[in-house]
Amino acid sequence: MPLHSVPMIATSTPVIEWVGETDGCLRLLDQTLLPCETKTIECRSVEQVVEAIRSLRVRGAPAIGVTAAYGVVVGLRESVTADRSQFDERLRAITQQLAESRPTAVNLFWALDRQRRLAERSATALPADILKALLAEARAIEVEDRAMCAAIGRHGAELLKDGDVVLTHCNAGALATAGDGTALAVIYAAVAAGKQIRVFADETRPLLQGSRLTAWELSRRGVPVTVICDSMAATVMRQGKIQAVIVGADRIAANGDTANKIGTYSVACLAKTHGLPFYVAAPSSTFDLSLTNGEQIPIEARSPAEITHGFGRQTVPEGVDVYNPAFDVTPAELITAIITERGVIQPVTAEEIRILLAAST
Ligand code: MRU
Repeated sequence: MPLHSVPMIATSTPVIEWVGETDGCLRLLDQTLLPCETKTIECRSVEQVVEAIRSLRVRGAPAIGVTAAYGVVVGLRESVTADRSQFDERLRAITQQLAESRPTAVNLFWALDRQRRLAERSATALPADILKALLAEARAIEVEDRAMCAAIGRHGAELLKDGDVVLTHCNAGALATAGDGTALAVIYAAVAAGKQIRVFADETRPLLQGSRLTAWELSRRGVPVTVICDSMAATVMRQGKIQAVIVGADRIAANGDTANKIGTYSVACLAKTHGLPFYVAAPSSTFDLSLTNGEQIPIEARSPAEITHGFGRQTVPEGVDVYNPAFDVTPAELITAIITERGVIQPVTAEEIRILLAAST
């Protein structure tokens, strides 16, 4: 049995699982197959980890961070007999490969940085000992992420009232983290506190993380969920069916501008129009204080095929141009509050963010 595994999401299959010790492998639930199949893949090379991240077999900012941390161990498994300089060279090469897998979720770079700094601190240690330390660090990142999800849930649950219906976009749940999620952790915690909460899940074009993943995990946990096409959000808000919006984040700039799945910005505009609170739930590892505002956040451009041939059928005429940014940026002024593991940031300003992130946990 592995020492650490991500909590079950009402299925016997963990989302991310390290199997064995330093010569082990990384097992991932293949999210591209959901909701029809729950199959895992085993990564034994850094190329397989990069492919899994790039093709969204594992996705969601915190889950990408945890995966990348384990990916470093996967990539160094065979280098225990190398001398220290060869080991360091290999570490540089694999962190570079992992860093190039996806550009937007900052948790990826944050986790790789933790692994790199750990190796630098042990400048005279033997490769075998550093590898053990890197595995321990990856496990620590996983455990911390789980705790962050729980704390986000506790803080956020207080913002919801019994009977509230929450709209969410994409998947910011157990499938996207090592724990209960960020946005969905708030819902799970409110339900655990005895509140009746229902969810409207935007299907989230083009890759349908809302209908395939969010609806899958919420329904398995017994939380009532209704899937809508993204274009229906305005109508359900206008019909008075929604009391709050909660989404996750892939990167938050120092001023609170937030990158999340494409379509999030539209939902934020709609929430403002309809006088609804718009909450972002994210751990401190999702903040990038080196960026002053959201314009500096790198936005991933994904393959046109996700739009022209989504899920196997051609839906765009041959030769027609397609634009497919994976994320958008919601300006801080549209965000009512950011729910973090350290507390709730409200109002969302650079000053409030700086104060909360500087406070010790
Ligand atoms: O492209 P994805 O599926 O990795 O995008 C994920 C999102 O945008 C999530 O909402 C975000 O990472 C928050 S996950 C807790």
